[in-house]
Amino acid sequence: MGRMTTGVRAVMEAVQNLINGRWVAAESGNTFEIRNPADRNEIVGRAPDSSAADVDAAVRAARAAFPAWAATPAPKRGEILYRAAELLVRHKTRLGVLVAREMGKVMPEALGDVQEAIDMTYYMASEGRRLSGETVPSELPNKDAKSIRVPIGVFGLITPWNFPIAIPSWKITPALIAGNTVVLKPAEEAPICAAQFVAVLQEAGLPPGVLNLVCGFGAQAGEPLVCHPEVDAVSFTGSYAVGAHLAILAAERHKHFAMETGGKNPIIVMDDADLDLAVSGALWGGFGTSGQRCTAASRLIVHEAIHDRFVARLIGGARRLKLGNAQDPASEIGPVVSAAQYQKVLDYIEIGRREGATLACGGAGYQEGACADGYFISPTIFTDVQPTMRIAQEEIFGPVVCILKTSNLSEAIRMANDTAFGLSAAIYTQNANAAAIAERDLDAGLVYINASTIGAEIQMPFGGTRRTGLGPREAGGRGGALDLYTKWKVIYRDFSGQLQKAQITPPTA
Ligand code: UN1
Repeated sequence: MGRMTTGVRAVMEAVQNLINGRWVAAESGNTFEIRNPADRNEIVGRAPDSSAADVDAAVRAARAAFPAWAATPAPKRGEILYRAAELLVRHKTRLGVLVAREMGKVMPEALGDVQEAIDMTYYMASEGRRLSGETVPSELPNKDAKSIRVPIGVFGLITPWNFPIAIPSWKITPALIAGNTVVLKPAEEAPICAAQFVAVLQEAGLPPGVLNLVCGFGAQAGEPLVCHPEVDAVSFTGSYAVGAHLAILAAERHKHFAMETGGKNPIIVMDDADLDLAVSGALWGGFGTSGQRCTAASRLIVHEAIHDRFVARLIGGARRLKLGNAQDPASEIGPVVSAAQYQKVLDYIEIGRREGATLACGGAGYQEGACADGYFISPTIFTDVQPTMRIAQEEIFGPVVCILKTSNLSEAIRMANDTAFGLSAAIYTQNANAAAIAERDLDAGLVYINASTIGAEIQMPFGGTRRTGLGPREAGGRGGALDLYTKWKVIYRDFSGQLQKAQITPPTA
């Protein structure tokens, strides 16, 4: 990228850490700067560059707040979350503009990011009046058996930059409704969104120390949070490499640990697919959010009978996508988030070329006109991709789509399942039997029929198979986030007044 073309402008105030209900600077006084990835001349704001001392203060606040919060009736905790959801509705546009500025996604998607947090906050507020366990018959007379959900304790939450409001909401709201207290360490690329989201929750009436925020970098703030002896549980979303490292640190310290770490999500396009629908789904899944979703459609497995027609239409569509700053309502695709991400994506494009894939469109940075000072990359399509190539196996997290050719459904499903990740998978077909077979055999946490790989809704569990994750699913209720943020307690009550022996009284044959 070239030199910056205009003068630097600052548009935002600095944010601070939230510790025990007070907004404070890092103990060191250090801060770091966040710039708009669509226009590096725009300083979005500054955030505290925290260290282990700040993490320690936040964790101690969370520990001290835990007993009273855990003892607060869950419906009362839910009332605070309802208020938070109402405030989020009121602040939706302001937060959406901030999402767009801080991490670059275009305005409709930025508003969608906030909407996902609104949905999640309402949904988890309503769990305050459910949070149910089970009551089952005992095998003995005058005895009953029930299970209840109890909070785990202090949660360390580490969130990524690609959904800078939504993903913090996925973790914070179920943790809080279940009675845990929280220390959030958001991605260093998007701490301002996280801080503003936390500020809204705080304004809704959370007691001091229930929710704490520590901004900073992984090694200086994230790792001390995972390793802190007063942190009972950790939930992480981000890259597999970081997640796998944190999983070991957590396991050595016997902490509850869950992670959500990536995808290489396929769309199968069969010869009987509605081609226009499949092309629009592939463009949306592949290039929406500039491919920076863990659900992004980065592999298209296309039936040979329609391959050339499909590819021609896809390339046409990709070339028409308008790159630009979210401030321009005509923009359809934003930049990638940072210099590091920009370089990583360009490196993968080079790897694809060297592996022998055909670069069918895009393939380079785009710095024309208003995009001059942003990390823009043209939507990129590789054809003739072989399943073993690195670009077909590794998560690129950018606007790069690989096309693989197939001759039949079972081969397509085998290819779809043949990566380390299993988050989301889709099939376009008009054949009911083919759809049913794909639904059964695709090894992924989310399967879409005649819809793209992105766009999961919060009321269903979110997560995947193989290296996509570890631990219970996020989002959803039972079978999802509530399993992540509670532990079970089983209570047996014997009101017979006698010594009754399970498995023995009355004598079994
Ligand atoms: C992510 O990319 O980490 O299904 C989450 C989707 C969004 C969530 C993506 N609702 O694409």
